[in-house]
Amino acid sequence: MDIGDTKHDSFHESGPHESIWRVGVSPGGFTQLASDLQVDVAVVGGGITGITAAAQLARAGRTVALLEGQTIGAGTSSHSTGNLYATVDQRLHVLTRHWGEDKARAVVDSRNAAVGLIERNVAEYRLQCDFSRQPWVLYSIDGLPEESDDIEAEYHAALGAGLDARLALDLPLPHTIRKALVVRNQAQFHPLKYLRQLAAAIQSSICRIFEFANVIEINEQQGLVRTAEHTVRANHIIMATHVPKGFNLVQAELAAYREYAVVAAVEREQLPNGIFWSTGANPTSTRALRIGDQAYLMMVGGKHKTGQPTQAGDSYLALEAILQERFEVHSSSFRWSAQHYRAVDGLPYIGAAARGSRLYHATGFAADGLVYGTLAGVILADQICSIDNPYAHLYAPHRFTPIKSAKNFIRENLNVAGQYLKDYLQGADIKDIDRLLPGQGALVEHEGTKVAAYRDDLNHLHLLSPVCTHLKCIVHWNSAERSWDCPCHGSRFQHDGKIIEGPALQPLARYDPGLH
Ligand code: FES
Repeated sequence: MDIGDTKHDSFHESGPHESIWRVGVSPGGFTQLASDLQVDVAVVGGGITGITAAAQLARAGRTVALLEGQTIGAGTSSHSTGNLYATVDQRLHVLTRHWGEDKARAVVDSRNAAVGLIERNVAEYRLQCDFSRQPWVLYSIDGLPEESDDIEAEYHAALGAGLDARLALDLPLPHTIRKALVVRNQAQFHPLKYLRQLAAAIQSSICRIFEFANVIEINEQQGLVRTAEHTVRANHIIMATHVPKGFNLVQAELAAYREYAVVAAVEREQLPNGIFWSTGANPTSTRALRIGDQAYLMMVGGKHKTGQPTQAGDSYLALEAILQERFEVHSSSFRWSAQHYRAVDGLPYIGAAARGSRLYHATGFAADGLVYGTLAGVILADQICSIDNPYAHLYAPHRFTPIKSAKNFIRENLNVAGQYLKDYLQGADIKDIDRLLPGQGALVEHEGTKVAAYRDDLNHLHLLSPVCTHLKCIVHWNSAERSWDCPCHGSRFQHDGKIIEGPALQPLARYDPGLH
């Protein structure tokens, strides 16, 4: 695959760096926190987990204050595919091998229930979010030499888990397939429309939703959540932040990954509606979508560990090249990437942060977060309302699974330890700061100190400490998104050091040459 030819370059230059889900979706117009509050439940985070939890709690009559640091749904939820399915990205047959058929079936049941709740919310609140039932398809492409064909195993696992599955040897695609697994009755929607409209629908005097409420402290013992100006006191606190903020042991059982999405306008439809996952050495997820009168194709893939890319910029180019090889695509594209956290034993952690704690978290959704986030919102709300949830035990954060998780636990933590040592022992990326071009970032050597340096397009230098404020690993420059990414637990920072996402609570420190 030659990613340097002119065809790919023109494609590469054409697309804006933003999620297509933001196009034409107006801000929700939620208010900002203007006073101190006392509520039953404070929810930190306005993505699908937080909004679902708030909706369930409000239904049960609990008073809720939801604090979102940006706008509702602006984080990971609006950087997703909009695909809703009962299966899982690590593959059901792998899950079945680790956990047994009963647990795999329970996972599928729980995910089906979550999709069902989304469908009921759409109907109950009349949400205009393009929800539709569609098939989910896993297929292998004929002629790919590095093919790893797990279709047959996945088919049997899908049947074992109670899914309506069939094998197929042909699909209405522009490329020849070897084999496919089709699961009926899955779904798709517009994630940002769903979240903004649902949030607007549940907002009331007992369920208050605030945007631009950047939380700087969560104090479980005192039962309070603080922004720079105000304090919310609560009997329960839900961290619906994708990964727990600050230090939490569960972080040792998670690995952070980034994945890339490209969207291209197409003149004619080339893919039927549905969710299409290809197998092989470079697995992708592809779907058709329509915004207004324009048809698009979305492709997602290129997964790598956060902070450990070979060349993040190449991930977009490689994905765009695959999209062009498989479809007739030549107009402008949207591009974005998203983070996900994979649990070492393959199941999310949903529940109280410690036994008896008033603090709750939900994480480890892998790339299946729209459905797991919905499920987490329900489980957490049920736990707070003392309602028995049939799936709470399956996803309990304190489950002890030494055999199921040992291999991945050791691998991921060796990876973190190895990265930590390597980064402290290794020299800077470049020695001479003058060699840093506009738009480039790198670890540079300055008077014997490693510095995170970024030269912006106007030639201004931004110098930061490269030491991650979470647990002191060394951040790396992500050229695709112009961010500093931590390879240990996935904290990400803007070029000026401000936090984008992850467990870190403090920005990267400014580098002051005078202090060194
Ligand atoms: Fe944990 Fe950086 S995210 S050390």
